[in-house]
Amino acid sequence: MHLIQSNGYQLELGSILESSFSEKLQSFSNEKIVLFADENTSEACVSYLLTQFEQLSEAEVIMIPAGEIHKTVEIVENIWEVLSDYQVGRHDLLINIGGGMITDMGGFIASCYKRGIEFINVPTSLLGMVDASIGGKTGVNLGHFKNQIGVFSHPIAVYIDPIFLSTLPKAELMSGYAELLKHGLISDALLYAEVLAQMEEAESIPVELLRDGIEIKNKVVTADPLEKGERKKLNFGHTFGHVIEGFYMGREGVSHGWAVAIGMIFESYLSYKRGLLTLKDYQKIELDLKKWYNIPPFSNEDMQEMVNWLSNDKKNRSGKIQCCLLEGIGKCTFDHEISQDEAVEVFLHFKNQQINLN
Ligand SMILES: NC(=O)c1ccc[n+]([C@@H]2O[C@H](COP(=O)([O-])OP(=O)(O)OC[C@H]3O[C@@H](n4cnc5c(N)ncnc54)[C@H](O)[C@@H]3O)[C@@H](O)[C@H]2O)c1
Repeated sequence: MHLIQSNGYQLELGSILESSFSEKLQSFSNEKIVLFADENTSEACVSYLLTQFEQLSEAEVIMIPAGEIHKTVEIVENIWEVLSDYQVGRHDLLINIGGGMITDMGGFIASCYKRGIEFINVPTSLLGMVDASIGGKTGVNLGHFKNQIGVFSHPIAVYIDPIFLSTLPKAELMSGYAELLKHGLISDALLYAEVLAQMEEAESIPVELLRDGIEIKNKVVTADPLEKGERKKLNFGHTFGHVIEGFYMGREGVSHGWAVAIGMIFESYLSYKRGLLTLKDYQKIELDLKKWYNIPPFSNEDMQEMVNWLSNDKKNRSGKIQCCLLEGIGKCTFDHEISQDEAVEVFLHFKNQQINLN
């Protein structure tokens, strides 16, 4: 079991059966416990917990449809009503079991319900394990705008058990790899190379790679929990990535990681155009990422809409679009202002490289 300290709570990487999960449940033996999952993780993961932990025999399960389009304020409101119907109180516990969609939403639901109840994250996707379940960002989308509503709020514990990856669809594994590649690109060239090599294997992901990814994310968010400085680096690929994800949301083959991967290609190109990244490094990144992630088709109107959306990005300051850029593989800098004209130039550069989704 790898134990990793975060902001006032512990991340445990290893079998949940050998973790402190059982003990933690015991401490809520007189309280209500509610499990929050989507339809896929309910079937693949909640059932496993229910059979393994008798402390969950009385637990309620709230299940929502899977997919990013359901990460909405309306669904959150419904769940608050359900919690209220179950008479869940301030001392009760919510356990979020799922990918980043569930841990982001569940964390937000718990943090605002009755001014905050405690919650545990049990991430079940690769992306959730190495990124979304760690660091206290919780929230939901507002229309096409990603994570516009939310709060920083930490779980009381995170249990990361690779067993759950056995049922994760291949496309979702690839989505998680994108965030791992990002961890490498922003801070660790060796990790970047290891992740690329592992993607060729595709079978199971070594626990050491999970641990390295988790440690990079955790190190950054513990040093800068409220994203005042260094943490902004984790947004590499997300300025373009978020508008791309919002624009194509709901279409088959569209995942958070895919959109971030396309965002990383775009932002690497911008880094090169600004003279920060060498042509050689840029071409390597472009080639590495395009092998796994296809650039989507877009018309001039689509492009214009996405560029307009950039102006409403959460990270903007004084109306200016902010972006993270690379100065090499493993070196990222933040707070770069970019103009709408530059954004258009980037889209146009990739316009002829599009491949149909599906
Ligand atoms: N809070 C953060 O710091 C942070 C960081 C990165 C991403 N995110 C958010 O995370 C979300 C993306 O996370 P995601 O990629 O995990 O998406 P997701 O939660 O939608 O999961 C992807 C798909 O995989 C399924 N799934 C998950 N685990 C499974 C399992 N073990 N077996 C079978 N199916 C399984 C889900 O049901 C879903 O269909 C986005 O909403 C993104 O904004 C948050």
